[in-house]
Amino acid sequence: MPSYSRVQLAAAELGREWAWRWRNAFTWSPPVLRRPRTLPALWRTLPPALHPAAKALADRYDLAKWAKACDAQGFRESLYVLDVLDRYAGPPTYPAPYLDIGCKNGCYLPGLQAWSGDSWHGVELDAHRRYWTLTTRRAHGEFVARSLTGCRYIAGDLLDLQGPYGFVTWFLPFLHAAPLRAWGLPDRFLLPLRLLTHTWSLLPSGGGLLVINQGEAEAERQDRLFREAGIPARPLGPIESPLSPFRRPRWGWRADKPAPGPASARRDPW
Ligand SMILES: C[S@@+](CC[C@H](N)C(=O)[O-])C[C@H]1O[C@@H](n2cnc3c(N)ncnc32)[C@H](O)[C@@H]1O
Repeated sequence: MPSYSRVQLAAAELGREWAWRWRNAFTWSPPVLRRPRTLPALWRTLPPALHPAAKALADRYDLAKWAKACDAQGFRESLYVLDVLDRYAGPPTYPAPYLDIGCKNGCYLPGLQAWSGDSWHGVELDAHRRYWTLTTRRAHGEFVARSLTGCRYIAGDLLDLQGPYGFVTWFLPFLHAAPLRAWGLPDRFLLPLRLLTHTWSLLPSGGGLLVINQGEAEAERQDRLFREAGIPARPLGPIESPLSPFRRPRWGWRADKPAPGPASARRDPW
Protein backbone atom coordinates (compact mmCIF):
# COMPACT_ATOMS: atom_id res chain seq x y z
CA MET A 1 0.00 0.00 0.00
CA PRO A 2 1.48 3.42 -0.85
CA SER A 3 2.25 5.62 2.15
CA TYR A 4 0.95 9.16 1.98
CA SER A 5 2.25 12.12 3.93
CA ARG A 6 -0.02 13.91 6.36
CA VAL A 7 -0.15 16.87 4.00
CA GLN A 8 -1.30 14.67 1.11
CA LEU A 9 -3.99 13.08 3.28
CA ALA A 10 -5.19 16.48 4.52
CA ALA A 11 -5.27 17.85 0.96
CA ALA A 12 -7.26 14.83 -0.24
CA GLU A 13 -9.72 15.25 2.65
CA LEU A 14 -10.13 18.94 1.87
CA GLY A 15 -10.78 18.03 -1.78
CA ARG A 16 -13.51 15.55 -0.79
CA GLU A 17 -15.08 18.07 1.58
CA TRP A 18 -15.22 20.78 -1.11
CA ALA A 19 -16.49 18.39 -3.76
CA TRP A 20 -19.19 17.26 -1.30
CA ARG A 21 -20.27 20.86 -0.58
CA TRP A 22 -20.23 21.76 -4.26
CA ARG A 23 -22.45 18.88 -5.35
CA ASN A 24 -24.85 19.51 -2.47
CA ALA A 25 -25.08 23.23 -3.27
CA PHE A 26 -26.31 22.65 -6.85
CA THR A 27 -28.72 19.76 -6.81
CA TRP A 28 -30.92 20.42 -9.84
CA SER A 29 -30.88 17.56 -12.34
CA PRO A 30 -32.03 17.30 -15.94
CA PRO A 31 -34.82 14.74 -16.26
CA VAL A 32 -33.88 11.10 -16.74
CA LEU A 33 -34.70 10.04 -20.29
CA ARG A 34 -34.48 6.34 -20.97
CA ARG A 35 -35.53 4.60 -24.11
CA PRO A 36 -38.30 2.16 -23.21
CA ARG A 37 -37.07 -1.42 -22.90
CA THR A 38 -38.90 -4.70 -22.88
CA LEU A 39 -38.16 -7.52 -20.46
CA PRO A 40 -36.83 -9.74 -23.32
CA ALA A 41 -34.44 -6.91 -24.26
CA LEU A 42 -33.15 -6.81 -20.67
CA TRP A 43 -32.72 -10.60 -20.70
CA ARG A 44 -30.48 -10.27 -23.75
CA THR A 45 -28.08 -8.08 -21.72
CA LEU A 46 -27.47 -11.01 -19.35
CA PRO A 47 -24.63 -13.48 -20.07
CA PRO A 48 -26.28 -16.76 -21.24
CA ALA A 49 -24.61 -18.73 -18.41
CA LEU A 50 -26.73 -16.77 -15.92
CA HIS A 51 -30.06 -17.45 -17.62
CA PRO A 52 -30.97 -20.63 -15.67
CA ALA A 53 -30.48 -18.96 -12.26
CA ALA A 54 -32.32 -15.83 -13.41
CA LYS A 55 -35.13 -17.91 -14.91
CA ALA A 56 -35.54 -19.78 -11.60
CA LEU A 57 -36.19 -16.41 -9.91
CA ALA A 58 -38.45 -15.13 -12.70
CA ASP A 59 -40.61 -18.26 -12.30
CA ARG A 60 -41.28 -17.40 -8.65
CA TYR A 61 -41.25 -13.61 -8.53
CA ASP A 62 -43.09 -10.96 -10.52
CA LEU A 63 -40.58 -9.04 -12.65
CA ALA A 64 -43.20 -7.36 -14.87
CA LYS A 65 -42.40 -3.83 -13.61
CA TRP A 66 -38.68 -4.23 -14.26
CA ALA A 67 -39.03 -3.37 -17.95
CA LYS A 68 -39.90 0.20 -17.01
CA ALA A 69 -37.64 0.51 -13.96
CA CYS A 70 -34.38 -1.13 -15.06
CA ASP A 71 -31.46 -0.39 -17.32
CA ALA A 72 -28.99 -3.23 -17.95
CA GLN A 73 -26.98 -2.49 -14.79
CA GLY A 74 -30.11 -2.21 -12.67
CA PHE A 75 -31.41 -5.48 -14.13
CA ARG A 76 -28.24 -7.32 -13.15
CA GLU A 77 -28.03 -5.82 -9.66
CA SER A 78 -31.75 -6.36 -9.06
CA LEU A 79 -31.41 -10.03 -9.96
CA TYR A 80 -28.47 -10.27 -7.58
CA VAL A 81 -30.23 -8.68 -4.56
CA LEU A 82 -33.38 -10.68 -5.24
CA ASP A 83 -31.30 -13.87 -5.27
CA VAL A 84 -29.53 -12.89 -2.02
CA LEU A 85 -32.83 -12.13 -0.28
CA ASP A 86 -34.38 -15.30 -1.64
CA ARG A 87 -31.50 -17.44 -0.35
CA TYR A 88 -30.68 -15.73 2.94
CA ALA A 89 -33.68 -13.71 4.18
CA GLY A 90 -36.52 -16.21 3.88
CA PRO A 91 -39.97 -14.98 2.93
CA PRO A 92 -40.95 -11.51 4.17
CA THR A 93 -42.98 -11.80 7.36
CA TYR A 94 -42.66 -8.26 8.67
CA PRO A 95 -44.82 -5.17 8.29
CA ALA A 96 -43.83 -2.82 5.40
CA PRO A 97 -42.40 -0.36 4.57
CA TYR A 98 -38.88 -1.74 4.27
CA LEU A 99 -35.64 0.19 3.96
CA ASP A 100 -32.43 -0.14 1.97
CA ILE A 101 -29.52 1.90 3.31
CA GLY A 102 -27.06 3.47 0.87
CA CYS A 103 -29.12 2.66 -2.22
CA LYS A 104 -26.89 4.65 -4.65
CA ASN A 105 -29.14 5.52 -7.62
CA GLY A 106 -31.93 3.12 -6.68
CA CYS A 107 -30.91 0.75 -9.47
CA TYR A 108 -31.58 -2.43 -7.46
CA LEU A 109 -34.85 -1.28 -5.83
CA PRO A 110 -36.75 -3.49 -8.33
CA GLY A 111 -35.01 -6.55 -6.86
CA LEU A 112 -35.94 -5.57 -3.30
CA GLN A 113 -39.52 -4.83 -4.26
CA ALA A 114 -39.95 -8.07 -6.20
CA TRP A 115 -38.86 -10.05 -3.12
CA SER A 116 -41.56 -8.66 -0.84
CA GLY A 117 -44.11 -7.18 -3.24
CA ASP A 118 -44.34 -4.33 -0.73
CA SER A 119 -43.27 -0.77 -0.32
CA TRP A 120 -39.53 -0.04 -0.06
CA HIS A 121 -37.68 3.15 0.74
CA GLY A 122 -34.08 3.62 -0.36
CA VAL A 123 -32.00 6.23 1.48
CA GLU A 124 -28.83 7.67 -0.01
CA LEU A 125 -26.58 10.29 1.57
CA ASP A 126 -24.63 11.10 -1.60
CA ALA A 127 -27.68 11.49 -3.80
CA HIS A 128 -26.51 14.46 -5.85
CA ARG A 129 -23.53 12.81 -7.49
CA ARG A 130 -23.71 13.31 -11.25
CA TYR A 131 -23.31 11.18 -14.35
CA TRP A 132 -21.85 12.38 -17.65
CA THR A 133 -25.41 13.27 -18.75
CA LEU A 134 -25.44 15.71 -15.77
CA THR A 135 -28.33 13.75 -14.29
CA THR A 136 -27.99 12.93 -10.60
CA ARG A 137 -28.29 9.69 -8.66
CA ARG A 138 -31.37 11.17 -7.07
CA ALA A 139 -33.07 11.78 -10.45
CA HIS A 140 -32.37 8.15 -11.41
CA GLY A 141 -33.51 6.86 -8.02
CA GLU A 142 -36.76 8.79 -8.23
CA PHE A 143 -37.31 7.53 -11.77
CA VAL A 144 -36.92 3.92 -10.58
CA ALA A 145 -39.06 4.45 -7.46
CA ARG A 146 -41.87 5.99 -9.53
CA SER A 147 -41.98 2.84 -11.66
CA LEU A 148 -42.62 0.61 -8.63
CA THR A 149 -45.70 0.62 -6.42
CA GLY A 150 -45.14 2.22 -3.03
CA CYS A 151 -41.40 2.81 -3.43
CA ARG A 152 -39.57 5.97 -2.43
CA TYR A 153 -36.08 7.30 -3.01
CA ILE A 154 -34.93 9.41 -0.07
CA ALA A 155 -32.02 11.76 -0.74
CA GLY A 156 -30.63 12.22 2.74
CA ASP A 157 -28.91 10.87 5.80
CA LEU A 158 -29.97 7.61 7.44
CA LEU A 159 -29.59 9.40 10.78
CA ASP A 160 -32.52 11.67 9.89
CA LEU A 161 -34.95 8.79 9.34
CA GLN A 162 -37.49 7.96 12.03
CA GLY A 163 -38.95 4.63 10.89
CA PRO A 164 -40.33 2.21 11.79
CA TYR A 165 -39.15 -0.12 9.02
CA GLY A 166 -40.15 -3.78 9.23
CA PHE A 167 -37.07 -5.02 7.39
CA VAL A 168 -33.80 -3.28 6.56
CA THR A 169 -31.15 -4.26 4.04
CA TRP A 170 -27.67 -2.79 4.23
CA PHE A 171 -25.34 -3.79 1.41
CA LEU A 172 -21.76 -2.72 2.10
CA PRO A 173 -21.88 -0.24 4.98
CA PHE A 174 -18.73 1.86 5.30
CA LEU A 175 -16.76 0.39 8.20
CA HIS A 176 -13.27 1.65 7.30
CA ALA A 177 -11.93 4.93 5.94
CA ALA A 178 -10.51 3.52 2.67
CA PRO A 179 -13.80 2.56 0.95
CA LEU A 180 -15.52 5.70 2.24
CA ARG A 181 -12.76 7.82 0.68
CA ALA A 182 -12.79 5.77 -2.51
CA TRP A 183 -16.51 6.62 -2.82
CA GLY A 184 -15.60 10.31 -2.44
CA LEU A 185 -17.08 11.02 0.98
CA PRO A 186 -15.38 13.14 3.67
CA ASP A 187 -14.13 11.27 6.77
CA ARG A 188 -16.76 12.89 9.02
CA PHE A 189 -19.31 10.48 7.52
CA LEU A 190 -17.48 7.43 8.87
CA LEU A 191 -19.80 6.66 11.79
CA PRO A 192 -20.32 2.88 11.69
CA LEU A 193 -21.43 2.35 15.30
CA ARG A 194 -23.76 5.36 15.37
CA LEU A 195 -25.34 4.35 12.06
CA LEU A 196 -25.77 0.75 13.22
CA THR A 197 -27.44 1.69 16.54
CA HIS A 198 -29.70 4.14 14.72
CA THR A 199 -30.64 1.45 12.19
CA TRP A 200 -31.52 -0.91 15.04
CA SER A 201 -33.73 1.79 16.57
CA LEU A 202 -35.74 1.98 13.32
CA LEU A 203 -36.87 -1.66 13.62
CA PRO A 204 -40.03 -2.62 15.49
CA SER A 205 -40.08 -5.81 17.57
CA GLY A 206 -40.05 -8.69 15.08
CA GLY A 207 -38.34 -6.56 12.42
CA GLY A 208 -35.22 -7.88 10.71
CA LEU A 209 -31.88 -6.56 9.50
CA LEU A 210 -29.72 -8.07 6.76
CA VAL A 211 -26.17 -6.72 6.47
CA ILE A 212 -23.78 -7.70 3.68
CA ASN A 213 -20.06 -6.92 3.96
CA GLN A 214 -17.28 -7.11 1.44
CA GLY A 215 -14.25 -9.19 2.45
CA GLU A 216 -13.30 -10.86 5.71
CA ALA A 217 -11.79 -7.77 7.37
CA GLU A 218 -15.11 -5.96 7.07
CA ALA A 219 -17.01 -8.99 8.36
CA GLU A 220 -14.74 -9.08 11.44
CA ARG A 221 -15.28 -5.36 12.04
CA GLN A 222 -19.02 -5.87 11.59
CA ASP A 223 -18.97 -8.63 14.19
CA ARG A 224 -17.27 -6.30 16.70
CA LEU A 225 -19.77 -3.54 15.94
CA PHE A 226 -22.76 -5.83 16.56
CA ARG A 227 -21.24 -6.82 19.90
CA GLU A 228 -20.50 -3.20 20.87
CA ALA A 229 -24.08 -2.24 19.99
CA GLY A 230 -25.51 -5.25 21.88
CA ILE A 231 -27.31 -6.47 18.75
CA PRO A 232 -27.92 -10.23 18.59
CA ALA A 233 -26.72 -10.84 15.03
CA ARG A 234 -26.31 -14.26 13.45
CA PRO A 235 -23.46 -14.75 10.97
CA LEU A 236 -24.67 -16.09 7.62
CA GLY A 237 -21.13 -16.85 6.44
CA PRO A 238 -20.05 -16.28 2.82
CA ILE A 239 -22.87 -14.96 0.64
CA GLU A 240 -22.97 -16.97 -2.55
CA SER A 241 -25.00 -16.10 -5.62
CA PRO A 242 -24.50 -17.28 -9.20
CA LEU A 243 -25.94 -13.91 -10.22
CA SER A 244 -23.33 -11.83 -8.43
CA PRO A 245 -21.61 -9.32 -10.71
CA PHE A 246 -18.97 -8.78 -8.00
CA ARG A 247 -15.56 -10.40 -7.69
CA ARG A 248 -14.74 -9.88 -4.01
CA PRO A 249 -16.26 -12.38 -1.57
CA ARG A 250 -19.13 -11.15 0.56
CA TRP A 251 -20.27 -12.07 4.07
CA GLY A 252 -23.68 -11.71 5.62
CA TRP A 253 -25.39 -11.11 8.96
CA ARG A 254 -28.95 -11.42 10.07
CA ALA A 255 -30.40 -9.77 13.18
CA ASP A 256 -34.01 -9.97 14.33
CA LYS A 257 -35.30 -7.55 16.90
CA PRO A 258 -36.72 -9.45 19.86
CA ALA A 259 -39.89 -8.42 21.64
CA PRO A 260 -39.15 -6.32 24.73
CA GLY A 261 -39.25 -8.42 27.87
CA PRO A 262 -38.25 -8.26 31.53
CA ALA A 263 -34.47 -7.84 31.91
CA SER A 264 -34.24 -11.16 33.75
CA ALA A 265 -35.76 -13.01 30.79
CA ARG A 266 -33.23 -11.62 28.30
CA ARG A 267 -30.60 -14.08 27.20
CA ASP A 268 -27.08 -13.02 26.35
CA PRO A 269 -26.85 -13.78 22.58
CA TRP A 270 -23.12 -14.52 22.84
C1 LIG B 1 -20.16 1.03 -0.37
S1 LIG B 1 -21.56 1.92 -0.93
C2 LIG B 1 -22.72 0.61 -1.22
C3 LIG B 1 -23.78 1.01 -2.19
C4 LIG B 1 -24.85 -0.03 -2.45
N1 LIG B 1 -25.55 -0.39 -1.23
C5 LIG B 1 -24.26 -1.24 -3.11
O1 LIG B 1 -24.34 -2.34 -2.53
O2 LIG B 1 -23.74 -1.14 -4.20
C6 LIG B 1 -22.20 2.68 0.53
C7 LIG B 1 -23.32 3.65 0.23
O3 LIG B 1 -23.87 4.13 1.46
C8 LIG B 1 -24.10 5.51 1.35
N2 LIG B 1 -24.11 6.09 2.71
C9 LIG B 1 -23.06 6.26 3.54
N3 LIG B 1 -23.44 6.83 4.69
C10 LIG B 1 -24.79 7.02 4.60
C11 LIG B 1 -25.76 7.60 5.47
N4 LIG B 1 -25.43 8.12 6.65
N5 LIG B 1 -27.04 7.65 5.03
C12 LIG B 1 -27.40 7.15 3.82
N6 LIG B 1 -26.51 6.60 2.96
C13 LIG B 1 -25.22 6.54 3.33
C14 LIG B 1 -22.95 6.00 0.50
O4 LIG B 1 -23.15 7.28 -0.05
C15 LIG B 1 -22.85 4.89 -0.53
O5 LIG B 1 -23.68 5.12 -1.63
